[in-house]
Amino acid sequence: ADSKRESLFIISEWAAKFFQQSMFDTQEGQSIGLSYFRERGFREDIIRKFGLGYSPEGWDALTAKAIEEGYKEQFLEETGLAIRNDKGKLYDRFRGRVMFPIHSFTGRLIGFGGRTLKTEKSVPKYVNSPESEIYHKSNVLYGLFFAKKSIRDEDNCYLVEGYADVLSVNQAGIENVVASSGTSLTTEQIRLIARFTKNITILYDGDQAGIKASLRGLDMILEEGLNVKVVLFPDGHDPDSYAKLVGASDFKTYIDKSQKDFILYKTSILLKDAGNDPIKKAGLIREVVESIAKIPDQIKASVFVRECSSLMQIDERALISELNKIRLGKQ
Ligand code: CTP
Ligand code: MN
Ligand code: MN
Ligand code: MN
Ligand code: MN
Repeated sequence: ADSKRESLFIISEWAAKFFQQSMFDTQEGQSIGLSYFRERGFREDIIRKFGLGYSPEGWDALTAKAIEEGYKEQFLEETGLAIRNDKGKLYDRFRGRVMFPIHSFTGRLIGFGGRTLKTEKSVPKYVNSPESEIYHKSNVLYGLFFAKKSIRDEDNCYLVEGYADVLSVNQAGIENVVASSGTSLTTEQIRLIARFTKNITILYDGDQAGIKASLRGLDMILEEGLNVKVVLFPDGHDPDSYAKLVGASDFKTYIDKSQKDFILYKTSILLKDAGNDPIKKAGLIREVVESIAKIPDQIKASVFVRECSSLMQIDERALISELNKIRLGKQ
């Protein structure tokens, strides 16, 4: 069974090289794939560091070459690099897309994300490798292999939504960044980060989906006993688009200046909805206390109770009694 997994790693590593060569060493790859990354402003050192590539148009460029070089159909299928059609013929999953190889945190190649170059809404923006014996999405973080040393050194991990965000944040000089690409954040992913640091800063997209995901992620991180801060990006920007807009130096300043601890973040998000309505405001306080109730460390929790009390100008004892109610309810 281990030799089977090894075969899947090996064919994935071969495929990553194939995608890289297709981008750097062919006319099609240079004029379509490489120019795409360049036009988005990605530097060549970043493109190389993350092993980016291009999957050629046509039905079976990769599959045909793999078979020719003696790779087994079985492994092409099990990694999802090839798909079998009704007639029993194998064709490439990734065609005419720019390719993001996905590594395990030990650096093995386990899967791919492929971004379309087309703008039609009918085409899915990203196609990803399916689950396989070597790729379990729920316990993989994109970029962790390249980030882990810096995460340890900085004692903090930036968490973004997408592949391009990881690249751009790196390009801005911040290497301790990972993405939960393709899935919503899982407990396994948080535990993976916790091996390297207890501090996470969420940098999700500044849209409704990103805000919703950040509130959910924040509770999950608190539940695992980690510290969490959040940066909100303006007007629908994501870290990639914002870094490109303002440049590396202002981007770093923005992150430092506008990161909020989870209470301040959650309160300011919810306050926008509540306005001056006292009933809504009470509901908001309860929601913030629900997040505090997730913190396993009681002393830490009591520090946040005090912060919440001064922020919302509400009696600390009222918050404590609410906190205790929630805690009892959970048992
Ligand atoms: N994603 C996915 N499948 C989709 C859309 C998104 O797997 N159909 C994942 C990708 O990992 C993507 C991340 O979710 O990087 C965030 O999605 P989104 O914000 O829509 O894409 P961006 O990363 O911002 O992509 P880009 O900047 O290239 O448009
Ligand atoms: Mn497994
Ligand atoms: Mn988004
Ligand atoms: Mn995005
Ligand atoms: Mn983006």
